[in-house]
Amino acid sequence: MSAYDWIQESLQTIQRANWYRSTQTIHGIPGAVVVLDGKEVINFASNDYLGLAGDERLISAAVNAVKEFGTGSTGSRLLSGQRSLHRELERAIASLKQTQDAIVFSSGYLANIGAITALVGKRDLILSDQYNHSSLKNGAILSGASITEYPHCNAEVLKNQLIELRKNYRRCLIITDSVFSMDGDLCPLHTLLDLAEEFSCMLLVDEAHGTGVLGSSGAGCVEHFGCTGRELIQMGTLSKALGSLGGYITGSATLIDFLRNRAPSWIYTTALSPADTASANAAIEIVRSEPQRILRLWHNVEYLKELIQKHLPELKILPSSSPILCFQLESATDALKVGKHLKESGIFAPAIRPPTVPTSRIRITLMATHENVHIEKLVEVLSNLTTT
Ligand SMILES: Cc1ncc(COP(=O)(O)O)c(C=O)c1O
Repeated sequence: MSAYDWIQESLQTIQRANWYRSTQTIHGIPGAVVVLDGKEVINFASNDYLGLAGDERLISAAVNAVKEFGTGSTGSRLLSGQRSLHRELERAIASLKQTQDAIVFSSGYLANIGAITALVGKRDLILSDQYNHSSLKNGAILSGASITEYPHCNAEVLKNQLIELRKNYRRCLIITDSVFSMDGDLCPLHTLLDLAEEFSCMLLVDEAHGTGVLGSSGAGCVEHFGCTGRELIQMGTLSKALGSLGGYITGSATLIDFLRNRAPSWIYTTALSPADTASANAAIEIVRSEPQRILRLWHNVEYLKELIQKHLPELKILPSSSPILCFQLESATDALKVGKHLKESGIFAPAIRPPTVPTSRIRITLMATHENVHIEKLVEVLSNLTTT
């Protein structure tokens, strides 16, 4: 008996529950249509909401940055890793978000972990939406603070928790996704901000799926709800609508200065690569100069919802105010079956199963670069599915 035998047993348990995960390879440039395992499929599985990950301008920016600065940034930002590109990107993010400053991390996951562990510790309290992204949840655990979850988007329960618990702790941090990544609905931002103010709490909002998608200038959920300028901590990623890689925190100059001194996943890791930094910068410029992309994305969301209402009223779509539309299925087995059928019919939309989400579902994401025919094909395939 080896000390490692349990790993094989654990994998078998995962397989028996139909929770086993494996990868699928996409070939070539990302886009609305991709080649998946050798077969052309319409892509409803990407977070590249504006279709920028394959944009020539981002590609050129990355290539030029590699030629000018090399492939790696060679060290952490505080040692040898900083290039002029990093501060340019941070200024561009702060300007898009209308905040004083920003700090760029090597991924969104690291941004959440770094910010949360810097802001709270053992004497503090974190109140966390139960459907929050893994990076918020793990950041909370790593911080050593006491964690209490509130039911999804339930501000009433959150208020009761604040009344009961706030007084027992030094600092309190409320953490939430702005757009919930596996559901597509939005957090009740106004109420969260009011509660944070009333109970003297910090609020960290994860705009991973809001940036470049919501708000008239693409600044995110905070702009969408008219909360620009209110005091809060915004996190985001460069890897979704901005088509690159990396993450950021944006807010007051004091907050950002503090994170530069205290966020371990920024201080003790290699700076974002020149290529990723430059392509994210190019993406922000496109978000600013081509608002029609966001309009097209929302046209596609509305078009799909309209077709579903007309042709598939029985589909159990979860409440959504974003380009993420999910429909629920009875079991992980059903979700896998439907995902497989979709793929065989030329549609790439993945099955999402526990433990990522509490209930199994198919997750569909729309892109600005989808054409009407792509969306019509999706609805046709889904219709065939419900009649067979
Ligand atoms: C809500 C949310 N937060 C954070 C992240 C992490 O971002 P990144 O992929 O840049 O690490 C993701 C991405 O998967 C996400 O969906």
